[in-house]
Amino acid sequence: MFLKNAWYVGALSSAVERDLHAVKMLNENLVMYRKQDGTPVVLEDSCPHRRLPLSMGRLIDDTVECGYHGLTFDCSGSCVKAPGVAQIPRSAVVRSYPCAERYGMLWVWMGDPALADESLIIDIPEWNQEGWGVNSGDAMSIACNYLYVSDNLLDPSHVSWVHQTSFGSASIIGKPLKVDVAENGVTVSRWLNDVEVAPFYKKFVKFTGNCDRKQQYEVRFPSLAVIKAIFTPAGTGGDDVAPHPDIFLMDSYNLLTPIDEKNTRYFWFQLRNFSPDDAEVSRMFNEDVRFAFNEDKVILEAIQKGLDKRPAALDLPIDSGPMRFRRRMQQLIEAERAPVEAAVAVE
Ligand code: FES
Ligand SMILES: [Fe+2]
Repeated sequence: MFLKNAWYVGALSSAVERDLHAVKMLNENLVMYRKQDGTPVVLEDSCPHRRLPLSMGRLIDDTVECGYHGLTFDCSGSCVKAPGVAQIPRSAVVRSYPCAERYGMLWVWMGDPALADESLIIDIPEWNQEGWGVNSGDAMSIACNYLYVSDNLLDPSHVSWVHQTSFGSASIIGKPLKVDVAENGVTVSRWLNDVEVAPFYKKFVKFTGNCDRKQQYEVRFPSLAVIKAIFTPAGTGGDDVAPHPDIFLMDSYNLLTPIDEKNTRYFWFQLRNFSPDDAEVSRMFNEDVRFAFNEDKVILEAIQKGLDKRPAALDLPIDSGPMRFRRRMQQLIEAERAPVEAAVAVE
């Protein structure tokens, strides 16, 4: 079960052009395309006649023609053409989904369209701000439930084992974590003082020697993680101190879209506070990030298989953040379903 009333990323902006792009989100099949003026459109990917996916049909101007018998739908999902039929049947309609374009991604509202409010999409003040560079977005599919990915994104400790050659370093093992629960999500963080700079960051930081490092892992409901990495010369770190001129900041945005119960589409992009226009830095970053995320993918797909066979036998202190996140998610899903279930009971 998923939280429906939320914006989920359906595709990278660059993936949807003037053709029919099929995606599966929250167990629903959708077709995405762009109108002639570039506006994105999202429709249910199922012709009401014989359920052929509309994505197997043709895009004609701003409409979609079914590839079986030519029922044609406009971007609101209304049937505008029914060959050989005197009057268009009322049931010839497909659902359309609100869609917004932001941060190089196409966001789809999967719940009640009346509640789709674009201001609910995360606000990122650093986006397009002078001095900040963007590592443009990318995506991969992971064969596991999205909550295993969000567990991972609330678990700064895993870098020491999963990402030994990139984000991790031995000197941070076992350092305590702080968990903060807020209205919109959960944050797990820790400052690590006078530790070595982890390999991934070494080639980018402007100082030498040890650092103070902050790992801040925040996941907002239902499935958007903001991972903030701070590296500053040893002795200059802290939440309430003026930033050192050489401070390294990287904000990593991780956007999880459940495909179904056992598959997740994982989108990401990063912002950095240095070399804003350096394409080579962006290229290196993108390459290293994809490599590291592939390390997560291997682990997450294996734990999905492992937990399918046998439930977990214990929890550890590092599970506190993920468990609190999951509890609240469950409540939110139940609260969203409650009016629906009450309505069904009345019928
Ligand atoms: S299946 Fe689409 S028109 Fe028949
Ligand atoms: Fe990871």
